[in-house]
Amino acid sequence: MKAAVAVQHRGMHSASVSSEHAPSPHDDASVRAALAELGCADHDELAIGGTAMSELLRRFGSPLYAFDGDALRRRAVELKNALGPGFSLLWSVKANPSLALARILRNAGCGAEIASLGELEVALAAGFSASSLRFAGPSKTVAELAEAFDQGVGTFHVECESEVDDLAAIARARGRIAACAVRVNLSSAQHGGRLRMAGAGARFGVEQGRALSLLRRIHQDPVLSMRGLHSYTGTQVFDAAQFVDSSRALCELADEWESALGAPLEEIDFGGGFGVATYLGDPSFDLQAAVAGIRRLVAHPARAQRRHFVELGRYLAAPCGVYVSTVVRKKSDGARVHIALDGGMHHCALAAGLGAVLKRPPLLVHAGCLRSMDREVVAVGGPLCTPQDQFAEAVALPRLVPGDAIAVLAAGAYGLTSSPIGFLSHPTPAEALVEAGVARLIRARGTAADALRGQSL
Ligand SMILES: Cc1ncc(COP(=O)(O)O)c(C=O)c1O
Repeated sequence: MKAAVAVQHRGMHSASVSSEHAPSPHDDASVRAALAELGCADHDELAIGGTAMSELLRRFGSPLYAFDGDALRRRAVELKNALGPGFSLLWSVKANPSLALARILRNAGCGAEIASLGELEVALAAGFSASSLRFAGPSKTVAELAEAFDQGVGTFHVECESEVDDLAAIARARGRIAACAVRVNLSSAQHGGRLRMAGAGARFGVEQGRALSLLRRIHQDPVLSMRGLHSYTGTQVFDAAQFVDSSRALCELADEWESALGAPLEEIDFGGGFGVATYLGDPSFDLQAAVAGIRRLVAHPARAQRRHFVELGRYLAAPCGVYVSTVVRKKSDGARVHIALDGGMHHCALAAGLGAVLKRPPLLVHAGCLRSMDREVVAVGGPLCTPQDQFAEAVALPRLVPGDAIAVLAAGAYGLTSSPIGFLSHPTPAEALVEAGVARLIRARGTAADALRGQSL
């Protein structure tokens, strides 16, 4: 079959190429690394924590998210050890609001960063103490601030003057002190992340030029405790040097503003956003370079009294989870072979490239047949009635038949939580966790009747 199909490659615009040149995910370096992380580098069948995917699908059904709890714990512990005692590692709950994953990360010694009252519920239920939590987000309402304060949330990452005023009013009314750190929008922030959240025009944080006067206002208010600074420049940062540069800028600003204020800035949160290969051809993030760079920054004697934070979502969880769906139909239109799955972008928008500038295939594998060379070029799509619900336009996968399972690797973060789950009213997928060789359900599958929830005629 030599159909001309449009595929997009990194750094190139859409181009018509022969399907003979369709990428082979099973040969991709990112796919091989993702399989190695799951301990399946030499396996014939995908397994999670030692349990074969066919067994997980038999027990929990399809479509399914499956997580390797041991891999998650290992990543957190390795990262904490690499950062050393001068740092606290925070779990960004937004990356995956799973109770079970939060519990594993808390037990591994992580703190948590939350961005909604829902995430507060998850963090508390997972066993994080309220006082250890840091509440971030650009538009926290007065009601949310008050509820979080009443529940004892430890630190508020404030993003503007009026938020500080609201927090002060809440604290004053209750006769208690509110602790805050200012999220600084660094003017030097570079375009290192795929999704940039700092620099000129960004709507997050307090513009660098206005931050000192806000710090003064906090410092002078007896109901507020000024804790320090926070910065977060973007997600999917693959350039470790860019992360170190923005961390350096934050450290230097803290040094300068401490002198100007005559008061310490004790907590410096460098953000995170470390990149994880998600699409074929993605690079990998140089963790060692990033960690060595920030350790050098904090080793400065003038900074010895500070506590430093790194907050990560994707880097911790993405490699530990897969999204698996089953081939329902296989058909050919004469030009290409279409694989229709029972799952799609409503569960895993990242696999359909939603929000990506250039659409490229995700890390897709034939879950039951990791090593076959008998491959076929296929288009892979889900059950939604939109052309967007397509994981790949042309990829060479081991030959698939109805009933076979396809897995999207590196789907443990921003999977279900950032997908349009209401679109077409399919039930939400089940979620399973494998820990110490034991597989169990951690989120029940939705039902068709969920489509009626909260509605009236
Ligand atoms: C303020 C803040 N912190 C942390 C994160 C987590 O980022 P990542 O999952 O890329 O590490 C985000 C993601 O958007 C964020 O906005």
